[in-house]
Amino acid sequence: METFEISVPCHFGIEAVLKKEIYDLGYEITRVDDGRVSFVGDAEAVVRANMCLGTGERVLIVVGRFFASTFTELFDGVAALPIENYVRPDGRFWVTKATSVKSKLFAVPTIQSVVKKAMVERMKKAYQKEVFKEEGCDYPFRIFLYKDEVLFTLDTTGVPLHKRGYRTWTSKAPLSETLASALIDLTPWHPDRIMLDPFCGSGTFLIEAARMAAGMAPGMDRHFTCEAWDHLIPKNLWQEIKEELLSQVNADVETHLYGYDIDPGVIDIARKNAKNAGVDHLIHFQVRDVADLSHSKKYGFILTNPPYGERLLETDEVYELYRTLGEAYNRLDSWSMYVITSFEQACEAIGRKPAKNRKIYNGMIKTYFYQFPGPKPPKRRQGDGSFSE
Ligand SMILES: C[S@@+](CC[C@H](N)C(=O)[O-])C[C@H]1O[C@@H](n2cnc3c(N)ncnc32)[C@H](O)[C@@H]1O
Repeated sequence: METFEISVPCHFGIEAVLKKEIYDLGYEITRVDDGRVSFVGDAEAVVRANMCLGTGERVLIVVGRFFASTFTELFDGVAALPIENYVRPDGRFWVTKATSVKSKLFAVPTIQSVVKKAMVERMKKAYQKEVFKEEGCDYPFRIFLYKDEVLFTLDTTGVPLHKRGYRTWTSKAPLSETLASALIDLTPWHPDRIMLDPFCGSGTFLIEAARMAAGMAPGMDRHFTCEAWDHLIPKNLWQEIKEELLSQVNADVETHLYGYDIDPGVIDIARKNAKNAGVDHLIHFQVRDVADLSHSKKYGFILTNPPYGERLLETDEVYELYRTLGEAYNRLDSWSMYVITSFEQACEAIGRKPAKNRKIYNGMIKTYFYQFPGPKPPKRRQGDGSFSE
């Protein structure tokens, strides 16, 4: 089978998590850039990456890399690439997104139109045709310029991978599914341990954790742009891999997942989303103020995304909320806590120094992932998520 260079963009700050996911799927990493991991794989790799990666945003086939600091160089660079190997003569092809960072060419609409013209020129020569009706499948291209190096890619995904399909309803400031998945991977949480989100909103952390526990591949319930293509990816692969992934699901797995929020409407949303995701029976949602947070078991994990301030509340209220979270955490014997926030005074208000802290971009917002690991549990495990000593 033909091999491609495949490039997967991700949130800035979680490249190492995505790299491990790709490595665990069995592929060789070729390059890691800020917000992007690249690897080599065939058509099967494109299908597996789309269906199985929890932390990537899209699966892009690299059509070419070259340098361009003028529009003529950009046109010539694209026209020299084998576009016809990717786009069928009746295909609808366009540059769906252009990004330019620290490059001489930065006018995005012009970049898009020059690249489209270069692609048409290439297609005319390759197919010996003057007119392309573009009535067939979609071939959306994405182009990134960084320090004048052009990365020209074909998007196989379409609707981004963070849209797993289960979150029909969202709360006020939801975390993206891909970021939630990456943050879970950054903790030592394991499906047989307790996870509790006291500010659960639409339930993203818990739904992602429940799907992980049940062995559900993140993208196995949705569709991708490249499913319609009839030449690059054999059609039978989709069904074969989906059947393989379905056979690995254990929806009756025992879990210890708790989602609380002060807002009853939000808890309602979380329950609906969990039902959509097929994991409502694996999560216990409840309306509860963080001030009333308690748990009888030891060695659990708090993983949470409290209100940030700039989005939801005034600074004083936010400070008070983090102070209350700190007090609640003090009452939880031997627990670990992981908090993603952009609130600068979070640790001061919680009243603890984090053992680790990681800078992560949640969209355009710079956030920190504060880590307060608790003691490791003893070996003997009770089967209900707790531990005997
Ligand atoms: C940033 S949102 C969480 C978003 C969530 N991670 C998601 O993906 O949807 C913060 C949540 O904290 C909740 N909240 C605010 N004050 C609270 C309190 N005192 N106790 C519990 N929840 C509270 C809000 O209702 C809101 O849903």
